[in-house]
Amino acid sequence: MPQNQEQTAIHYPGENYEFSLSLAENCSDNALDVIREKKFIRERLLDIKNHDEETFLHSLEVGNMTAFLINKLGDKLAKKEKEILISSALLHDYGKTSVDPEILNKREELTPKELMEIEKHPTATFHALREWNIEVAKVSVAHHEHQDHTYPRKEFTDYVMGERIPSEEVDKLSRILAIVDSFQAMSDPTRPSSIRNPKTINEIIDELNKKFILREDKEIIFLLEEYYYEKLNNEEKKNSKEQIH
Ligand SMILES: [Fe+2]
Ligand SMILES: [Fe+2]
Repeated sequence: MPQNQEQTAIHYPGENYEFSLSLAENCSDNALDVIREKKFIRERLLDIKNHDEETFLHSLEVGNMTAFLINKLGDKLAKKEKEILISSALLHDYGKTSVDPEILNKREELTPKELMEIEKHPTATFHALREWNIEVAKVSVAHHEHQDHTYPRKEFTDYVMGERIPSEEVDKLSRILAIVDSFQAMSDPTRPSSIRNPKTINEIIDELNKKFILREDKEIIFLLEEYYYEKLNNEEKKNSKEQIH
């Protein structure tokens, strides 16, 4: 992914420079465009960063992966959908700012009580975003809607989705976000879930293919696999350059 420091180091008048710089180091150009335009997103990302650095880095990476997908999907998504999707990708875990970071980063198995605490976060995200942008709030609330482990409970998502979503369906953008979110959490060796349950890239792909069964889902999984290998290649090149110098 492009990581051009010159292009991405931007000053926001009256905002914290250090924050802008750390975004610049971690964001692809596309995700950065949204951050550049929307002060609300920058402020919420800063809240996340101040609460828990790990969730902040995860949010940026989900943003990067989504920016990659948006480029690859081209006309398959409308301009408005792209905007909603990238904004949701960056802020989907905002609700974790109301969960104790010790629980968020616990490496051991979670107790049922801790699990219940964590499972409140999509609903908390919904309430934090609804007044700013109801579409982004609706996509974000369903980012853990998998066939085998669905939260928040379906009654709630049906309620917040209202007329838009038939009860048996998860919105197209929420499904994309759910796939990206799972892929990131499982493939990043620093995330608590992958520490508790490490998997090879092939096992991750198999698991996603079992969880997300629509034809459109398969395309997203395929593109994310491409992203994964591209990123790996870039890192290997960077490492070998560093060894030469
Ligand atoms: Fe989440
Ligand atoms: Fe997430």
